[in-house]
Amino acid sequence: MTSERRVGLDVYLCWTGFVLLLSYFIHVSQPEEFMGLVATRVARNTKTMSGCTSKIMETHYKARCNLYPREKDVFRFPVPDDKVKWSVDFPEYKPTNFTSSKVLSKPGTEKKKLNRISHHGKYEVIDGVPRNPVGRTGLRGRGCLGRYGPNHAADPIVTRWLRDTNGDVIKDGHGKPVLEFVAIQRQDCGEWALPGGMVEAGEKVSLTIKREFGEEAMSYLEASDEEKNKISEAIDDLFKNGLEVYSGYVDDPRNTDNCWMETVAVNFHDENGNSVSKIALKAGDDAVGVKWVVLNKDIKLYASHSHLMEQVATKRNASWERPSSEQMQKT
Ligand SMILES: *[C@@H]1O[C@H](CO)[C@@H](O)[C@H](O)[C@H]1NC(C)=O
Ligand SMILES: *[C@@H]1O[C@H](CO)[C@@H](O)[C@H](O)[C@H]1NC(C)=O
Repeated sequence: MTSERRVGLDVYLCWTGFVLLLSYFIHVSQPEEFMGLVATRVARNTKTMSGCTSKIMETHYKARCNLYPREKDVFRFPVPDDKVKWSVDFPEYKPTNFTSSKVLSKPGTEKKKLNRISHHGKYEVIDGVPRNPVGRTGLRGRGCLGRYGPNHAADPIVTRWLRDTNGDVIKDGHGKPVLEFVAIQRQDCGEWALPGGMVEAGEKVSLTIKREFGEEAMSYLEASDEEKNKISEAIDDLFKNGLEVYSGYVDDPRNTDNCWMETVAVNFHDENGNSVSKIALKAGDDAVGVKWVVLNKDIKLYASHSHLMEQVATKRNASWERPSSEQMQKT
């Protein structure tokens, strides 16, 4: 044990006693498995849509983007649609092995215990490294992700009904009510995304979700004490009842042949518009913008976030069409 770790241990002891101490030991000895376990266990506390957790997506697109994100000269080996599956022969396939220097310099991330848990169950480990369960990505190594195998994130999908100036819920041409959801603009790529984040080792998914939403969409860290109380209250209240809409692989541009993003996406719905809807959104932390976005099939979001939004629309019996301009004018 390093002295840094011993200091950390003392702090844990004073603060939270035996239970956390125990999880600390598990974390130190098996950081990789532990994160995965937490991600799956806590996810069970929310309601799950049956049938959407086990089946992995057929193919990925963003995980095959030519230029690797945040890099100027890291290109993927082109993988045609019909060569994504590992079961299809592809003898010419010679992807670059790339792990960003940032990842390599972070202590602890080089540890590669390989039996970390995926939402999809077992994945293959070839020559000592996990293999992307969807297929080829055109790049080997860890890229900019911290760990081989699944890297766990959590994404809150905060929704409310779109209302006109009288406060009446706006419906689409089929009489289905229209939803809005909170999206943030990412600092790294400028794309709109859900205000989620990585599940930190030993952290409950429910906590990740609240923390990330508070920090990214409500600028919690920069708020005054009075505002902080208001924000915490609204978030605690709304986030009591979550509806899990997805848990599993994310088609993310950071994925490689050996590591990939997985997420638990949970929908929190402000039915009457009197919870977080009452508090002004304010971008903070990793976000440069934040707004309520009308949910429909044409929205373009980071990674496979659009796919998650369709699940929300279906589950809430909401519109998945683009509202007509006439409908939008009423707002
Ligand atoms: C890929 O690079 C990493 C270091 O960045 C190295 O540890 C690993 O052995 C390399 N893998 C292959 C297959 O060359
Ligand atoms: C959605 O509609 C179905 C059938 O029309 C109904 O059984 C279900 O309760 C509705 N769900 C919600 C959240 O309103």
